[in-house]
Amino acid sequence: MDQVSQVREKIDIVSLISEYIPLKKAGRNFKANCPFHGEKTPSFVVSPERQIWHCFGCGKGGDCFTFLMEYETLEFPEALRILAKRVGIEIQSTHFEAGLTTKKEKIYRLNRLALEFYHYLLTKHNVGKIALSYLIEKRKINEKIIDSFSLGFAPRIGNALVKFLIDKKKYNREDLNEAGLISFRQGGIFDFFAGRIMFPLFDHRDNVIGFSGRILEDPSVQISSKYINTRETLVYHKGDVFFGLNVAKDEIKKQERVIIMEGEFDVISSVQEGIKNTIAVKGTALTENQVQLISRFAQKVSLCFDQDKAGIDAVKRSLPVLEKKGLTVTVIQIPNGKDPDESIKENPVEFKNAMKNDIAIYDFLINESIKNFDKKSAEGKKKISDDVLPFISHIENEVVKEHYLKKLSTELDTSFESVVRQAEKIGKQTQKSTFRKEEKQKRDRREVLEEYLVALILQAKDVKDILGKTENELSEIEFKISAYKKIIDFLKTYFASHNIFDSKQFLRALPIELVPSFDECFLFPLSKFINEEKYELEINNIIKELIQIYLKDRIKAVSEKMKQIEKENKDSEELNALRIEFSNLVSIIK
Ligand code: CTP
Ligand code: MN
Repeated sequence: MDQVSQVREKIDIVSLISEYIPLKKAGRNFKANCPFHGEKTPSFVVSPERQIWHCFGCGKGGDCFTFLMEYETLEFPEALRILAKRVGIEIQSTHFEAGLTTKKEKIYRLNRLALEFYHYLLTKHNVGKIALSYLIEKRKINEKIIDSFSLGFAPRIGNALVKFLIDKKKYNREDLNEAGLISFRQGGIFDFFAGRIMFPLFDHRDNVIGFSGRILEDPSVQISSKYINTRETLVYHKGDVFFGLNVAKDEIKKQERVIIMEGEFDVISSVQEGIKNTIAVKGTALTENQVQLISRFAQKVSLCFDQDKAGIDAVKRSLPVLEKKGLTVTVIQIPNGKDPDESIKENPVEFKNAMKNDIAIYDFLINESIKNFDKKSAEGKKKISDDVLPFISHIENEVVKEHYLKKLSTELDTSFESVVRQAEKIGKQTQKSTFRKEEKQKRDRREVLEEYLVALILQAKDVKDILGKTENELSEIEFKISAYKKIIDFLKTYFASHNIFDSKQFLRALPIELVPSFDECFLFPLSKFINEEKYELEINNIIKELIQIYLKDRIKAVSEKMKQIEKENKDSEELNALRIEFSNLVSIIK
Protein backbone atom coordinates (compact mmCIF):
# COMPACT_ATOMS: atom_id res chain seq x y z
CA MET A 1 0.00 0.00 0.00
CA ASP A 2 1.34 3.45 -0.82
CA GLN A 3 1.72 6.05 1.88
CA VAL A 4 -1.33 8.03 0.83
CA SER A 5 -3.57 4.97 1.21
CA GLN A 6 -1.88 4.09 4.49
CA VAL A 7 -2.70 7.50 5.91
CA ARG A 8 -6.25 7.37 4.57
CA GLU A 9 -6.72 3.94 6.12
CA LYS A 10 -5.60 5.10 9.55
CA ILE A 11 -7.54 8.36 9.71
CA ASP A 12 -11.08 8.15 11.03
CA ILE A 13 -12.94 10.70 8.96
CA VAL A 14 -15.70 11.19 11.52
CA SER A 15 -13.33 12.19 14.32
CA LEU A 16 -11.26 14.30 11.94
CA ILE A 17 -14.23 16.31 10.66
CA SER A 18 -15.82 16.63 14.09
CA GLU A 19 -12.76 18.54 15.23
CA TYR A 20 -13.80 21.23 12.79
CA ILE A 21 -17.59 21.16 12.78
CA PRO A 22 -20.18 19.55 15.07
CA LEU A 23 -21.52 16.33 13.53
CA LYS A 24 -24.88 14.82 14.39
CA LYS A 25 -25.64 11.14 14.04
CA ALA A 26 -28.27 10.47 11.37
CA GLY A 27 -28.91 6.80 10.74
CA ARG A 28 -25.81 5.19 9.31
CA ASN A 29 -24.22 8.60 8.67
CA PHE A 30 -23.46 11.92 10.31
CA LYS A 31 -24.90 15.27 9.30
CA ALA A 32 -23.88 18.91 9.66
CA ASN A 33 -24.40 22.32 8.13
CA CYS A 34 -21.99 22.48 5.24
CA PRO A 35 -18.86 24.47 6.07
CA PHE A 36 -18.30 25.25 2.40
CA HIS A 37 -21.50 27.07 1.48
CA GLY A 38 -24.21 28.98 3.31
CA GLU A 39 -27.04 26.84 4.59
CA LYS A 40 -29.32 26.43 7.56
CA THR A 41 -30.49 22.86 7.13
CA PRO A 42 -27.75 20.25 7.07
CA SER A 43 -26.92 18.70 3.73
CA PHE A 44 -23.32 17.89 4.54
CA VAL A 45 -22.98 14.17 5.23
CA VAL A 46 -20.11 12.05 6.49
CA SER A 47 -20.11 8.29 6.13
CA PRO A 48 -18.06 6.30 8.65
CA GLU A 49 -18.48 3.17 6.57
CA ARG A 50 -17.31 4.72 3.34
CA GLN A 51 -14.90 7.15 5.04
CA ILE A 52 -16.06 9.91 2.73
CA TRP A 53 -18.03 13.16 2.94
CA HIS A 54 -20.42 14.77 0.53
CA CYS A 55 -22.48 17.95 0.52
CA PHE A 56 -25.83 17.63 -1.23
CA GLY A 57 -26.15 21.41 -1.31
CA CYS A 58 -22.98 22.51 -3.06
CA GLY A 59 -21.87 19.18 -4.49
CA LYS A 60 -18.44 19.13 -2.88
CA GLY A 61 -17.17 15.87 -1.47
CA GLY A 62 -14.27 13.50 -1.05
CA ASP A 63 -12.04 11.85 1.53
CA CYS A 64 -9.98 13.02 4.52
CA PHE A 65 -7.44 14.76 2.29
CA THR A 66 -9.93 16.72 0.23
CA PHE A 67 -11.73 17.78 3.40
CA LEU A 68 -8.59 19.22 4.93
CA MET A 69 -7.55 20.82 1.65
CA GLU A 70 -10.93 22.52 1.28
CA TYR A 71 -11.27 23.50 4.90
CA GLU A 72 -7.78 24.82 5.48
CA THR A 73 -7.17 25.84 1.87
CA LEU A 74 -4.11 23.63 1.60
CA GLU A 75 -2.35 21.99 -1.26
CA PHE A 76 -2.35 18.19 -1.30
CA PRO A 77 1.22 17.76 0.02
CA GLU A 78 0.45 19.98 3.01
CA ALA A 79 -2.72 18.04 3.82
CA LEU A 80 -0.85 14.77 3.46
CA ARG A 81 1.89 15.91 5.78
CA ILE A 82 -0.55 17.05 8.47
CA LEU A 83 -2.60 13.87 8.38
CA ALA A 84 0.46 11.63 8.21
CA LYS A 85 1.84 13.30 11.31
CA ARG A 86 -1.47 12.76 13.05
CA VAL A 87 -1.31 9.00 12.58
CA GLY A 88 2.44 8.73 13.05
CA ILE A 89 3.42 7.89 9.50
CA GLU A 90 6.61 9.44 8.23
CA ILE A 91 6.41 10.69 4.68
CA GLN A 92 9.59 9.59 2.98
CA SER A 93 9.71 10.96 -0.52
CA THR A 94 9.46 14.61 -1.33
CA HIS A 95 7.95 14.03 -4.74
CA PHE A 96 4.73 15.61 -3.44
CA GLU A 97 6.53 18.88 -2.85
CA ALA A 98 4.79 20.82 -5.55
CA GLY A 99 6.42 24.16 -6.31
CA LEU A 100 3.43 25.99 -4.91
CA THR A 101 3.71 24.54 -1.43
CA THR A 102 7.36 25.26 -1.04
CA LYS A 103 6.72 28.77 -2.30
CA LYS A 104 4.00 29.33 0.26
CA GLU A 105 6.12 27.92 3.02
CA LYS A 106 9.04 30.09 2.02
CA ILE A 107 6.81 33.15 2.31
CA TYR A 108 5.67 32.08 5.77
CA ARG A 109 9.29 31.69 6.83
CA LEU A 110 10.27 35.06 5.42
CA ASN A 111 7.32 36.77 7.06
CA ARG A 112 8.19 35.13 10.36
CA LEU A 113 11.74 36.46 10.11
CA ALA A 114 10.42 39.92 9.25
CA LEU A 115 8.09 39.76 12.26
CA GLU A 116 10.99 38.90 14.56
CA PHE A 117 13.10 41.63 13.04
CA TYR A 118 10.42 44.32 13.46
CA HIS A 119 9.53 43.12 16.94
CA TYR A 120 13.17 43.24 18.02
CA LEU A 121 13.56 46.78 16.69
CA LEU A 122 10.46 47.95 18.54
CA THR A 123 11.15 46.35 21.87
CA LYS A 124 14.94 46.18 22.14
CA HIS A 125 16.55 48.58 19.70
CA ASN A 126 17.19 52.29 19.91
CA VAL A 127 15.59 52.89 16.55
CA GLY A 128 12.25 51.76 17.95
CA LYS A 129 12.26 53.97 21.04
CA ILE A 130 9.90 56.64 19.73
CA ALA A 131 7.49 54.05 18.41
CA LEU A 132 7.56 52.16 21.70
CA SER A 133 6.81 55.23 23.72
CA TYR A 134 4.05 56.15 21.26
CA LEU A 135 2.44 52.79 21.92
CA ILE A 136 2.91 52.80 25.66
CA GLU A 137 2.29 56.43 26.48
CA LYS A 138 0.02 57.71 23.77
CA ARG A 139 -1.96 54.58 22.99
CA LYS A 140 -1.76 53.12 26.52
CA ILE A 141 -0.75 49.67 25.29
CA ASN A 142 1.23 47.59 27.77
CA GLU A 143 4.28 45.49 26.97
CA LYS A 144 2.53 42.20 27.51
CA ILE A 145 0.03 43.02 24.79
CA ILE A 146 2.83 44.24 22.51
CA ASP A 147 4.30 40.76 22.88
CA SER A 148 1.11 38.78 22.47
CA PHE A 149 0.29 40.57 19.21
CA SER A 150 3.99 40.54 18.19
CA LEU A 151 3.85 44.24 17.32
CA GLY A 152 6.90 45.71 15.66
CA PHE A 153 8.50 48.75 14.14
CA ALA A 154 9.75 49.25 10.59
CA PRO A 155 12.42 51.95 10.67
CA ARG A 156 12.45 54.91 8.34
CA ILE A 157 15.83 54.02 6.79
CA GLY A 158 14.53 52.47 3.61
CA ASN A 159 16.33 49.12 3.48
CA ALA A 160 16.90 47.72 6.96
CA LEU A 161 14.79 44.62 6.36
CA VAL A 162 16.22 44.07 2.87
CA LYS A 163 19.73 44.09 4.33
CA PHE A 164 18.77 41.72 7.11
CA LEU A 165 17.06 39.18 4.88
CA ILE A 166 19.44 39.31 1.92
CA ASP A 167 22.84 39.97 3.49
CA LYS A 168 22.36 38.07 6.70
CA LYS A 169 19.76 35.43 5.98
CA LYS A 170 20.80 34.88 2.35
CA TYR A 171 17.40 35.13 0.73
CA ASN A 172 17.18 36.69 -2.70
CA ARG A 173 15.15 39.59 -3.94
CA GLU A 174 12.67 37.39 -5.82
CA ASP A 175 11.79 35.69 -2.53
CA LEU A 176 11.30 39.05 -0.82
CA ASN A 177 9.23 40.31 -3.69
CA GLU A 178 6.97 37.28 -3.63
CA ALA A 179 6.34 37.88 0.07
CA GLY A 180 5.45 41.51 -0.68
CA LEU A 181 8.17 42.78 1.65
CA ILE A 182 9.94 45.04 -0.84
CA SER A 183 9.17 47.65 -3.43
CA PHE A 184 11.22 48.71 -6.42
CA ARG A 185 12.01 52.41 -6.77
CA GLN A 186 14.50 54.27 -8.93
CA GLY A 187 16.28 51.10 -9.87
CA GLY A 188 16.82 50.06 -6.26
CA ILE A 189 14.95 47.87 -3.82
CA PHE A 190 13.51 49.22 -0.60
CA ASP A 191 11.56 47.89 2.34
CA PHE A 192 7.84 47.96 1.56
CA PHE A 193 7.12 49.26 5.07
CA ALA A 194 9.09 52.21 6.44
CA GLY A 195 8.55 54.37 9.50
CA ARG A 196 5.55 52.37 10.61
CA ILE A 197 4.21 50.48 13.61
CA MET A 198 3.88 46.92 12.38
CA PHE A 199 0.92 44.63 12.99
CA PRO A 200 1.60 41.09 11.78
CA LEU A 201 -1.38 39.35 10.23
CA PHE A 202 -1.82 35.64 10.88
CA ASP A 203 -4.09 33.02 9.48
CA HIS A 204 -5.92 30.91 12.04
CA ARG A 205 -3.14 28.33 11.84
CA ASP A 206 -0.62 30.90 13.07
CA ASN A 207 1.22 31.36 9.80
CA VAL A 208 2.35 34.94 9.28
CA ILE A 209 0.65 35.89 6.04
CA GLY A 210 1.38 39.60 5.91
CA PHE A 211 1.44 42.88 7.78
CA SER A 212 -0.34 46.12 8.21
CA GLY A 213 1.65 49.19 9.13
CA ARG A 214 0.53 52.46 10.70
CA ILE A 215 2.50 55.64 10.35
CA LEU A 216 3.91 57.09 13.51
CA GLU A 217 3.16 60.75 12.97
CA ASP A 218 -0.10 62.52 13.30
CA PRO A 219 -1.87 61.25 10.19
CA SER A 220 -3.22 64.73 9.35
CA VAL A 221 0.24 66.05 8.51
CA GLN A 222 1.23 63.01 6.49
CA ILE A 223 0.86 62.57 2.79
CA SER A 224 0.92 58.78 2.62
CA SER A 225 -2.03 56.84 4.03
CA LYS A 226 -2.38 56.12 7.72
CA TYR A 227 -2.46 52.37 7.24
CA ILE A 228 -0.97 50.28 4.49
CA ASN A 229 -1.29 46.52 4.08
CA THR A 230 0.81 43.88 2.38
CA ARG A 231 -0.24 43.75 -1.24
CA GLU A 232 -1.92 40.57 -2.50
CA THR A 233 0.54 37.67 -2.46
CA LEU A 234 0.30 33.92 -2.75
CA VAL A 235 -0.66 33.79 0.94
CA TYR A 236 -2.23 37.19 1.64
CA HIS A 237 -5.71 38.07 0.38
CA LYS A 238 -7.16 41.05 2.19
CA GLY A 239 -10.76 39.93 1.94
CA ASP A 240 -10.03 36.55 3.53
CA VAL A 241 -8.52 37.47 6.88
CA PHE A 242 -9.14 39.19 10.17
CA PHE A 243 -6.66 40.90 12.40
CA GLY A 244 -6.48 39.13 15.76
CA LEU A 245 -8.25 35.87 14.95
CA ASN A 246 -5.23 33.78 15.93
CA VAL A 247 -5.28 35.34 19.41
CA ALA A 248 -9.07 35.35 19.80
CA LYS A 249 -10.22 32.07 18.30
CA ASP A 250 -10.33 29.95 21.47
CA GLU A 251 -12.18 32.63 23.37
CA ILE A 252 -14.62 33.07 20.47
CA LYS A 253 -15.40 29.36 20.58
CA LYS A 254 -15.79 29.41 24.34
CA GLN A 255 -18.13 32.39 24.38
CA GLU A 256 -19.89 31.28 21.18
CA ARG A 257 -19.77 34.90 20.10
CA VAL A 258 -17.41 37.00 18.06
CA ILE A 259 -17.15 40.77 18.25
CA ILE A 260 -16.03 42.35 15.00
CA MET A 261 -14.43 45.79 15.09
CA GLU A 262 -12.89 47.99 12.43
CA GLY A 263 -9.26 48.47 13.37
CA GLU A 264 -6.15 46.97 14.92
CA PHE A 265 -6.11 49.33 17.89
CA ASP A 266 -9.78 48.63 18.65
CA VAL A 267 -8.98 44.95 19.04
CA ILE A 268 -5.75 45.48 20.95
CA SER A 269 -7.41 47.83 23.46
CA SER A 270 -10.29 45.40 23.93
CA VAL A 271 -8.01 42.45 24.60
CA GLN A 272 -6.00 44.52 27.04
CA GLU A 273 -9.25 45.30 28.87
CA GLY A 274 -10.07 41.56 29.05
CA ILE A 275 -12.50 41.47 26.12
CA LYS A 276 -10.84 38.67 24.25
CA ASN A 277 -13.33 37.50 21.61
CA THR A 278 -12.65 40.44 19.30
CA ILE A 279 -11.25 40.60 15.78
CA ALA A 280 -10.88 43.40 13.22
CA VAL A 281 -12.13 43.42 9.64
CA LYS A 282 -9.76 46.31 8.88
CA GLY A 283 -12.07 49.04 7.84
CA THR A 284 -14.21 47.38 5.20
CA ALA A 285 -17.47 45.43 4.93
CA LEU A 286 -17.35 41.71 5.60
CA THR A 287 -16.75 39.45 2.63
CA GLU A 288 -18.28 36.04 2.06
CA ASN A 289 -14.98 34.34 2.79
CA GLN A 290 -14.61 36.16 6.08
CA VAL A 291 -18.14 35.24 7.15
CA GLN A 292 -17.45 31.66 6.16
CA LEU A 293 -14.33 31.69 8.31
CA ILE A 294 -15.92 33.07 11.47
CA SER A 295 -18.98 30.87 11.18
CA ARG A 296 -16.66 27.98 12.04
CA PHE A 297 -15.99 29.52 15.41
CA ALA A 298 -19.28 31.05 16.54
CA GLN A 299 -22.92 31.42 15.55
CA LYS A 300 -23.35 34.87 17.05
CA VAL A 301 -21.70 37.92 15.53
CA SER A 302 -21.71 41.33 17.17
CA LEU A 303 -20.68 44.19 14.94
CA CYS A 304 -18.92 46.97 16.78
CA PHE A 305 -18.08 49.41 14.00
CA ASP A 306 -17.29 53.11 14.32
CA GLN A 307 -20.18 55.42 15.12
CA ASP A 308 -19.97 57.30 11.85
CA LYS A 309 -21.59 57.07 8.46
CA ALA A 310 -18.83 54.79 7.16
CA GLY A 311 -19.38 52.46 10.11
CA ILE A 312 -23.14 52.28 9.59
CA ASP A 313 -22.64 51.70 5.87
CA ALA A 314 -20.28 48.85 6.70
CA VAL A 315 -22.98 47.32 8.92
CA LYS A 316 -25.46 47.52 6.04
CA ARG A 317 -23.07 46.08 3.52
CA SER A 318 -22.11 43.23 5.83
CA LEU A 319 -25.68 42.21 6.65
CA PRO A 320 -26.61 40.30 3.46
CA VAL A 321 -23.58 38.03 3.72
CA LEU A 322 -24.24 37.37 7.39
CA GLU A 323 -27.95 36.74 6.87
CA LYS A 324 -27.16 34.33 4.05
CA LYS A 325 -25.00 32.28 6.39
CA GLY A 326 -27.77 32.17 8.99
CA LEU A 327 -25.79 33.78 11.80
CA THR A 328 -27.32 35.74 14.66
CA VAL A 329 -26.23 39.32 14.19
CA THR A 330 -26.28 42.13 16.72
CA VAL A 331 -24.83 45.61 16.92
CA ILE A 332 -22.89 47.03 19.85
CA GLN A 333 -23.42 50.77 20.13
CA ILE A 334 -20.25 52.46 21.24
CA PRO A 335 -20.56 54.95 24.10
CA ASN A 336 -18.16 57.93 24.48
CA GLY A 337 -16.13 58.27 21.36
CA LYS A 338 -15.92 57.38 17.76
CA ASP A 339 -14.43 53.90 17.98
CA PRO A 340 -13.99 51.07 20.52
CA ASP A 341 -10.37 52.07 21.15
CA GLU A 342 -11.35 55.58 22.29
CA SER A 343 -14.42 54.39 24.13
CA ILE A 344 -12.57 51.77 26.16
CA LYS A 345 -9.93 54.26 27.19
CA GLU A 346 -12.58 56.79 28.17
CA ASN A 347 -14.67 54.42 30.25
CA PRO A 348 -14.13 50.66 30.12
CA VAL A 349 -17.08 49.90 32.39
CA GLU A 350 -19.50 51.71 30.14
CA PHE A 351 -18.06 49.95 27.13
CA LYS A 352 -18.56 46.56 28.74
CA ASN A 353 -22.14 47.47 29.51
CA ALA A 354 -22.70 48.41 25.90
CA MET A 355 -21.35 44.99 24.94
CA LYS A 356 -23.96 43.32 27.10
CA ASN A 357 -26.71 45.58 25.77
CA ASP A 358 -26.13 44.76 22.13
CA ILE A 359 -29.25 45.02 19.98
CA ALA A 360 -30.48 42.94 17.08
CA ILE A 361 -29.20 44.33 13.81
CA TYR A 362 -32.70 45.03 12.45
CA ASP A 363 -33.65 47.03 15.53
CA PHE A 364 -30.44 48.97 15.04
CA LEU A 365 -31.23 49.73 11.40
CA ILE A 366 -34.78 50.88 12.20
CA ASN A 367 -33.59 53.07 15.08
CA GLU A 368 -30.83 54.65 12.99
CA SER A 369 -33.19 55.43 10.17
CA ILE A 370 -35.73 57.02 12.49
CA LYS A 371 -32.95 59.21 13.87
CA ASN A 372 -32.16 60.43 10.39
CA PHE A 373 -35.60 61.17 8.99
CA ASP A 374 -38.84 62.69 10.24
CA LYS A 375 -41.16 59.78 10.87
CA LYS A 376 -44.19 62.07 11.10
CA SER A 377 -44.17 63.31 7.51
CA ALA A 378 -45.15 61.27 4.47
CA GLU A 379 -41.81 62.03 2.88
CA GLY A 380 -39.95 60.89 6.03
CA LYS A 381 -41.99 57.68 6.22
CA LYS A 382 -41.09 56.94 2.62
CA LYS A 383 -37.41 57.54 3.28
CA ILE A 384 -37.38 55.34 6.37
CA SER A 385 -39.19 52.48 4.68
CA ASP A 386 -36.97 52.74 1.58
CA ASP A 387 -33.99 52.65 3.91
CA VAL A 388 -34.83 49.58 5.98
CA LEU A 389 -37.25 47.46 3.94
CA PRO A 390 -34.59 46.13 1.55
CA PHE A 391 -33.08 44.43 4.59
CA ILE A 392 -36.24 43.39 6.40
CA SER A 393 -37.84 41.97 3.27
CA HIS A 394 -34.98 39.49 2.95
CA ILE A 395 -35.20 38.08 6.47
CA GLU A 396 -35.52 34.39 5.97
CA ASN A 397 -37.46 33.45 9.07
CA GLU A 398 -41.09 34.50 8.53
CA VAL A 399 -41.80 35.03 12.22
CA VAL A 400 -38.82 37.32 12.63
CA LYS A 401 -39.70 39.14 9.44
CA GLU A 402 -43.24 39.78 10.60
CA HIS A 403 -41.95 41.01 13.93
CA TYR A 404 -39.96 43.76 12.22
CA LEU A 405 -42.65 44.61 9.70
CA LYS A 406 -44.99 45.15 12.67
CA LYS A 407 -42.40 47.21 14.48
CA LEU A 408 -41.96 49.40 11.43
CA SER A 409 -45.68 49.87 10.95
CA THR A 410 -46.04 50.90 14.61
CA GLU A 411 -43.11 53.30 14.41
CA LEU A 412 -44.40 54.90 11.24
CA ASP A 413 -48.00 54.81 12.40
CA THR A 414 -49.16 53.12 9.18
CA SER A 415 -51.17 49.96 8.66
CA PHE A 416 -49.39 46.63 8.81
CA GLU A 417 -50.85 45.74 5.40
CA SER A 418 -49.32 48.68 3.60
CA VAL A 419 -45.91 47.95 5.13
CA VAL A 420 -46.22 44.33 3.98
CA ARG A 421 -47.21 45.39 0.46
CA GLN A 422 -44.33 47.83 0.24
CA ALA A 423 -41.95 45.16 1.56
CA GLU A 424 -43.07 42.81 -1.20
CA LYS A 425 -42.47 45.45 -3.87
CA ILE A 426 -39.05 46.33 -2.51
CA GLY A 427 -38.10 42.72 -1.97
CA LYS A 428 -38.65 42.07 -5.66
CA GLN A 429 -36.74 45.16 -6.78
CA THR A 430 -33.67 44.87 -4.62
CA GLN A 431 -30.88 42.89 -6.07
CA LYS A 432 -31.80 39.33 -5.43
CA SER A 433 -28.25 38.28 -6.21
CA THR A 434 -26.80 39.58 -2.95
CA PHE A 435 -29.25 37.47 -1.00
CA ARG A 436 -29.58 34.50 -3.32
CA LYS A 437 -28.46 31.09 -2.28
CA GLU A 438 -26.66 28.70 -4.52
CA GLU A 439 -29.08 26.38 -6.23
CA LYS A 440 -28.46 22.85 -7.26
CA GLN A 441 -29.00 22.06 -10.90
CA LYS A 442 -32.65 21.43 -11.51
CA ARG A 443 -33.60 17.79 -11.80
CA ASP A 444 -37.11 16.62 -12.45
CA ARG A 445 -39.23 15.01 -9.77
CA ARG A 446 -38.75 11.54 -11.17
CA GLU A 447 -34.97 11.75 -10.83
CA VAL A 448 -35.21 13.21 -7.34
CA LEU A 449 -37.60 10.47 -6.22
CA GLU A 450 -35.47 7.71 -7.69
CA GLU A 451 -32.44 8.91 -5.77
CA TYR A 452 -34.52 9.18 -2.60
CA LEU A 453 -35.93 5.69 -3.04
CA VAL A 454 -32.54 4.05 -3.50
CA ALA A 455 -31.28 6.08 -0.49
CA LEU A 456 -34.14 4.72 1.62
CA ILE A 457 -33.34 1.17 0.57
CA LEU A 458 -29.57 1.42 1.06
CA GLN A 459 -29.87 3.12 4.43
CA ALA A 460 -32.57 0.81 5.80
CA LYS A 461 -31.90 -1.04 9.05
CA ASP A 462 -32.42 -4.35 7.30
CA VAL A 463 -31.72 -3.88 3.61
CA LYS A 464 -32.46 -7.49 2.69
CA ASP A 465 -35.83 -7.42 4.45
CA ILE A 466 -36.90 -4.19 2.72
CA LEU A 467 -35.81 -5.48 -0.63
CA GLY A 468 -37.77 -8.69 -0.12
CA LYS A 469 -40.93 -6.88 0.94
CA THR A 470 -40.93 -4.51 -2.02
CA GLU A 471 -39.59 -6.80 -4.70
CA ASN A 472 -42.75 -6.91 -6.82
CA GLU A 473 -43.45 -3.21 -6.65
CA LEU A 474 -39.83 -2.36 -7.37
CA SER A 475 -39.86 -4.41 -10.53
CA GLU A 476 -42.71 -2.28 -11.86
CA ILE A 477 -40.62 0.88 -11.81
CA GLU A 478 -39.16 2.09 -15.06
CA PHE A 479 -36.02 3.83 -13.82
CA LYS A 480 -35.09 6.99 -15.63
CA ILE A 481 -31.57 6.85 -14.18
CA SER A 482 -30.23 3.47 -15.19
CA ALA A 483 -27.48 3.48 -12.54
CA TYR A 484 -30.16 3.13 -9.85
CA LYS A 485 -31.77 0.19 -11.60
CA LYS A 486 -28.37 -1.47 -11.86
CA ILE A 487 -27.64 -0.89 -8.18
CA ILE A 488 -30.95 -2.53 -7.25
CA ASP A 489 -30.14 -5.49 -9.49
CA PHE A 490 -26.71 -5.86 -7.91
CA LEU A 491 -28.35 -5.74 -4.48
CA LYS A 492 -30.62 -8.62 -5.42
CA THR A 493 -27.65 -10.65 -6.62
CA TYR A 494 -25.74 -9.78 -3.46
CA PHE A 495 -28.50 -11.01 -1.18
CA ALA A 496 -28.73 -14.29 -3.04
CA SER A 497 -25.56 -15.23 -1.17
CA HIS A 498 -25.53 -12.83 1.82
CA ASN A 499 -27.90 -12.13 4.67
CA ILE A 500 -26.48 -8.91 6.05
CA PHE A 501 -25.67 -5.81 4.08
CA ASP A 502 -22.00 -4.92 4.34
CA SER A 503 -21.14 -1.93 2.17
CA LYS A 504 -17.48 -2.92 1.85
CA GLN A 505 -18.32 -6.37 0.55
CA PHE A 506 -21.06 -5.06 -1.67
CA LEU A 507 -18.78 -2.45 -3.23
CA ARG A 508 -16.30 -5.12 -4.20
CA ALA A 509 -18.91 -6.55 -6.56
CA LEU A 510 -20.22 -3.21 -7.79
CA PRO A 511 -18.76 -1.90 -11.08
CA ILE A 512 -16.63 1.15 -10.43
CA GLU A 513 -18.77 3.46 -12.57
CA LEU A 514 -21.73 2.85 -10.26
CA VAL A 515 -19.84 3.84 -7.10
CA PRO A 516 -20.57 7.60 -7.31
CA SER A 517 -24.32 6.94 -7.60
CA PHE A 518 -24.08 4.43 -4.79
CA ASP A 519 -22.29 6.94 -2.55
CA GLU A 520 -24.81 9.68 -3.27
CA CYS A 521 -27.63 7.42 -2.11
CA PHE A 522 -25.69 5.86 0.73
CA LEU A 523 -24.95 9.31 2.15
CA PHE A 524 -28.20 11.03 1.20
CA PRO A 525 -29.46 12.95 4.27
CA LEU A 526 -32.72 11.28 5.28
CA SER A 527 -35.05 12.74 7.85
CA LYS A 528 -35.87 10.82 11.02
CA PHE A 529 -38.72 8.30 10.99
CA ILE A 530 -40.70 7.54 14.13
CA ASN A 531 -40.65 3.81 13.53
CA GLU A 532 -39.92 1.10 11.00
CA GLU A 533 -43.53 1.05 9.89
CA LYS A 534 -43.35 4.71 8.83
CA TYR A 535 -40.08 4.01 7.05
CA GLU A 536 -41.63 1.21 5.02
CA LEU A 537 -44.72 3.28 4.33
CA GLU A 538 -42.51 6.02 2.92
CA ILE A 539 -40.81 3.53 0.61
CA ASN A 540 -44.15 2.23 -0.63
CA ASN A 541 -45.46 5.73 -1.23
CA ILE A 542 -42.39 6.71 -3.21
CA ILE A 543 -42.68 3.60 -5.35
CA LYS A 544 -46.35 4.35 -6.02
CA GLU A 545 -45.61 7.92 -6.95
CA LEU A 546 -42.80 6.88 -9.26
CA ILE A 547 -45.09 4.46 -11.04
CA GLN A 548 -47.78 7.10 -11.40
CA ILE A 549 -45.32 9.64 -12.79
CA TYR A 550 -44.04 7.10 -15.26
CA LEU A 551 -47.58 6.21 -16.36
CA LYS A 552 -48.50 9.85 -16.85
CA ASP A 553 -45.35 10.49 -18.86
CA ARG A 554 -46.08 7.46 -20.96
CA ILE A 555 -49.75 8.39 -21.53
CA LYS A 556 -48.64 11.80 -22.70
CA ALA A 557 -46.09 10.33 -25.06
CA VAL A 558 -48.53 7.75 -26.44
CA SER A 559 -51.30 10.25 -27.03
CA GLU A 560 -48.94 12.63 -28.78
CA LYS A 561 -47.75 9.86 -31.04
CA MET A 562 -51.36 8.91 -31.78
CA LYS A 563 -52.25 12.48 -32.68
CA GLN A 564 -49.31 12.69 -34.99
CA ILE A 565 -50.24 9.51 -36.84
CA GLU A 566 -53.89 10.57 -37.06
CA LYS A 567 -52.79 13.87 -38.57
CA GLU A 568 -50.86 12.04 -41.22
CA ASN A 569 -54.12 10.22 -41.85
CA LYS A 570 -52.83 6.72 -42.23
CA ASP A 571 -54.70 4.03 -40.41
CA SER A 572 -51.65 2.05 -39.50
CA GLU A 573 -51.13 -0.99 -37.34
CA GLU A 574 -48.99 1.16 -35.13
CA LEU A 575 -51.94 3.35 -34.30
CA ASN A 576 -53.95 0.34 -33.23
CA ALA A 577 -51.19 -0.82 -30.94
CA LEU A 578 -50.96 2.64 -29.45
CA ARG A 579 -54.72 2.73 -28.84
CA ILE A 580 -54.53 -0.54 -26.93
CA GLU A 581 -51.57 0.67 -24.88
CA PHE A 582 -53.37 3.93 -24.19
CA SER A 583 -56.51 2.30 -22.81
CA ASN A 584 -54.38 -0.09 -20.78
CA LEU A 585 -52.44 2.79 -19.26
CA VAL A 586 -55.59 4.74 -18.47
CA SER A 587 -57.13 1.75 -16.76
CA ILE A 588 -54.13 1.22 -14.43
CA ILE A 589 -53.59 4.87 -13.53
CA LYS A 590 -55.70 6.14 -10.69
N1 CTP B 1 -7.53 50.79 7.26
C1 CTP B 1 -6.76 50.21 6.27
N2 CTP B 1 -6.22 50.97 5.26
C2 CTP B 1 -6.44 52.31 5.24
C3 CTP B 1 -7.23 52.91 6.23
C4 CTP B 1 -7.78 52.12 7.23
O1 CTP B 1 -6.52 49.01 6.29
N3 CTP B 1 -5.89 53.03 4.28
C5 CTP B 1 -8.10 49.95 8.32
C6 CTP B 1 -7.20 49.85 9.52
O2 CTP B 1 -7.26 48.53 10.01
C7 CTP B 1 -7.85 50.81 10.50
C8 CTP B 1 -9.30 50.67 10.17
O3 CTP B 1 -9.32 50.50 8.78
O4 CTP B 1 -7.57 50.46 11.83
C9 CTP B 1 -10.17 51.80 10.59
O5 CTP B 1 -9.71 53.02 10.02
P1 CTP B 1 -9.76 54.38 10.86
O6 CTP B 1 -11.02 54.49 11.61
O7 CTP B 1 -9.40 55.47 9.90
O8 CTP B 1 -8.52 54.21 11.80
P2 CTP B 1 -8.39 53.93 13.36
O9 CTP B 1 -8.66 52.50 13.65
O10 CTP B 1 -9.15 54.92 14.15
O11 CTP B 1 -6.83 54.17 13.50
P3 CTP B 1 -5.98 54.80 14.67
O12 CTP B 1 -6.67 54.46 15.92
O13 CTP B 1 -4.67 54.11 14.52
O14 CTP B 1 -5.86 56.25 14.41
MN1 MN C 1 -8.82 54.78 16.37
